[in-house]
Amino acid sequence: MTIRRVSPDHLKILVLAVSCSASAVLAKRTRVTVDVGAVDAKSELQALATLVLASNPALRWQASTSLAERTNQAVRHAHIEPHRGEYRSLLIPVRHGSVSMLASAASKVDSALIIQNKGGGHGEIGFHLALQLAKERGMKVMILHEGPEKASKPPHSAYAELLSANVDILWFDDLTRPEVLWFLDDKKFGAIIDNWSKSPDQIRPFAELAKKWEVANYAYVSSAGMYTPPAGDYGAISEDASVKSSGQRQAEELLEEMKLPYSCFRPQYIYGPKQGKSYLKYFFDRLTNGRPVLVPNGGDQQVTMTHAADNAAMIAAAVGNEAAAGEVFNCATSTLITYDDLVDICAKAVGVEPKIVHYNPKDFEIPKGFFPFRDAPFFVSVDKAADKLGFAPKHLLASDIEWYFTNNYQSSESLDFSLDDEILAKVA
Ligand SMILES: *[C@@H]1O[C@H](CO)[C@@H](O)[C@H](O)[C@H]1NC(C)=O
Repeated sequence: MTIRRVSPDHLKILVLAVSCSASAVLAKRTRVTVDVGAVDAKSELQALATLVLASNPALRWQASTSLAERTNQAVRHAHIEPHRGEYRSLLIPVRHGSVSMLASAASKVDSALIIQNKGGGHGEIGFHLALQLAKERGMKVMILHEGPEKASKPPHSAYAELLSANVDILWFDDLTRPEVLWFLDDKKFGAIIDNWSKSPDQIRPFAELAKKWEVANYAYVSSAGMYTPPAGDYGAISEDASVKSSGQRQAEELLEEMKLPYSCFRPQYIYGPKQGKSYLKYFFDRLTNGRPVLVPNGGDQQVTMTHAADNAAMIAAAVGNEAAAGEVFNCATSTLITYDDLVDICAKAVGVEPKIVHYNPKDFEIPKGFFPFRDAPFFVSVDKAADKLGFAPKHLLASDIEWYFTNNYQSSESLDFSLDDEILAKVA
């Protein structure tokens, strides 16, 4: 992390950070947003944010950055660069950055209970979250785990890492059994993170425990799948969009009714280490077999794919944070990519030239799950988490894709491309 030039604006931020530390101790929470004026790159802003975080480690600093390109007043900033023996001046669009800092006095929450589903495709958030809370926050973490344990499959195969970070893992084949509550009877946690309950009936006993323990947060991990955006509305979905009344939604509602300091997190497409399910297998299967990649409609539909550790970091930012109480957060990253661009970066990782073929999905009978994403654009906005929790994602799919191909992708023994052939015969 380097800041290439320290401008008066940078110094202003650091001075503010220090004075903000002092007032945060008194006021518990303080937010300062500083305009940095012209900056060259997001990395520079992030470097500043890192300095702010380091300025008083006892405070739980959360810093987020934003960088907007000012397109209409295009070029104002000239940059001199040597070019073939002569100096030529490059005109660089002026970018406008801001660093937003949120300080809160060190959280008193020092223990957390994670209620974790079986895993399969959906265990990676719990894994990363337990690790972050235990290792980075020094919290006492227990995972109440729905079994059975599948020790050879991710993320369970990596649980030795959790044990060595002193995370306790308790397995119950059925978390609805009364033994679970007997077991918890003499225990107490400062926060609950629930990625298991699928109905009001399932969540109620844990919500009641949370009341008894007077937890600082009940974080419930549901899913962006509950949104029902109007057809044809292709903007980013925000938390106030309409939702269907699924079991998960009813569980969210019960937490609200019970007046718990709840926060709901609605993740979307996830990738990352220790993941059991792969959203990109569809693309790699075709690219590694020299086949065209079929993409529904125009291929310009946008999507977000989020690293599981970023999802976990957002949830961790809510633990011990009063600003998270009573709020719903989309749990994703801020980077968007189109389906076609996704094929391109996958092809680069494989080392082949992709051939993309578009088709109209309405012309065929396509089984659910054939293509990993929806036919229409479906992506969420994470502005609220950036604003309220100071969340800033650390991972970028484009930089992780090679890792993903090498370390996560597993080909299957036999692949069936008959539907591909049927579509290709009609479209090509
Ligand atoms: C837990 O998290 C996953 C994402 O890994 C999500 O899709 C799932 O629906 C979650 N919630 C519950 C209650 O199982």
